[in-house]
Amino acid sequence: MVDVAEARTAAGTRLGWEDFRRLLAGERLPAAVVDLDAMGRNVDRIRARLDGTGKTLRVASKSVRHVGLLRRVLDRGGNGFRGLMCYSAEEAAFLVEEGFDDLFVAYPTLQHQALLPLARAAGRGATVRLVADCPEHLEAMGRAGREAGAVLDAVLELDVSYRPLGGRLHLGARRSPLRSAADVVVLARAASGIPGVRVVGLMGYEAHVAGVPDENPFSPAMNPLRKALKRLAVPAVSRLRSRTVTALAAEGVELRLVNGGGTGSLGSTAAESCITEVTAGSGFLCSHLFDYFAGQDLEPAAFFALEICRVPDPGHVTCAGGGYVASGEPGLDRLPLPWLPRGLAYVPMEGAGEVQTPLRRGPAALPLAVGDPVVFRHAKAGELAERFDEYLLVGGGRIVAREPTYRGQGRCFL
Ligand SMILES: Cc1ncc(COP(=O)(O)O)c(C=O)c1O
Repeated sequence: MVDVAEARTAAGTRLGWEDFRRLLAGERLPAAVVDLDAMGRNVDRIRARLDGTGKTLRVASKSVRHVGLLRRVLDRGGNGFRGLMCYSAEEAAFLVEEGFDDLFVAYPTLQHQALLPLARAAGRGATVRLVADCPEHLEAMGRAGREAGAVLDAVLELDVSYRPLGGRLHLGARRSPLRSAADVVVLARAASGIPGVRVVGLMGYEAHVAGVPDENPFSPAMNPLRKALKRLAVPAVSRLRSRTVTALAAEGVELRLVNGGGTGSLGSTAAESCITEVTAGSGFLCSHLFDYFAGQDLEPAAFFALEICRVPDPGHVTCAGGGYVASGEPGLDRLPLPWLPRGLAYVPMEGAGEVQTPLRRGPAALPLAVGDPVVFRHAKAGELAERFDEYLLVGGGRIVAREPTYRGQGRCFL
């Protein structure tokens, strides 16, 4: 097993071990902590990357899942930050109730009971858009739109996966059956025959660029290949998106948004002239998978702390809980990263455990006792919120608020 304690980047953290000990004294553990100062600096850095590009930024709610933090990110982002990319129709309806507007649901559903509240919100004047990649999605949207006496806005999703060698190699997230400009045009024509729905946008998300770290310390032998493939994939994505926008314009489809990208591709996506907006979410909290992108200047802002509940021998400590393994391709990089104090690493046969997590103490590790906290970082930014009812929000080195996650508000969308 890779020694994850050695896998940290130079990004560092502003909150040190003694800060966490002080902040967490008397707090229930496990606890999740967000450093609002660090998150604010990440917002500023991401906004700065879009300066002068003319593109706006849509915040990926799935990578936050916390109403209070979504509000803070949008507020701090200012005019350049516009709207949320939601991960379910039900979530979008919840966010409408919470007072958000300009919502784009980027993952399709056929469920009428999920679509109808959104159609009703659109009827009341909310800006709500939903992704579609097949006639069935459009029919479901049209049915909800007609029942609500409204028209639902559809964003067609183009699959921008990289398929070299005549398609024998497939790099990408298999998000849509629409693989060419012609495919998208055929669906746009179908949409024009469905009352209650209209096409207003195009999305092409390059997961194989934005979601693949350049310097993954958990599988370093693959890094040169990953980087080479990403270099080849970027221009291919750009050509396909641009061709598709041109084809839709020729059909008379007026596109209000052309969305692409994620935290891991902000620069290359924002450089494309046909793009109107880029999406980012993970970069605000900077979960540890985002440490491993080239040119990354973000800093860790979300953490969780476990209690040391046993010291089985002088070389180990055992924490209560901790098995918060991230989704995606299975691998060691999906485990939480032991962060503070330095010098702690997983025990190979145990990993991050269901109810307890033993950690090996390196020679330089501080003396630790039962009752002490160990601080970790989740691999993915939004999934942390599914494990905690509230986040302790830290500003200026003290806890300034305690606010619920979606889970703490009793919401579980997927
Ligand atoms: C459609 C879409 N756009 C953008 C993103 C990027 O989000 P993040 O910045 O959190 O990586 C994702 C993440 O999976 C996504 O699914």
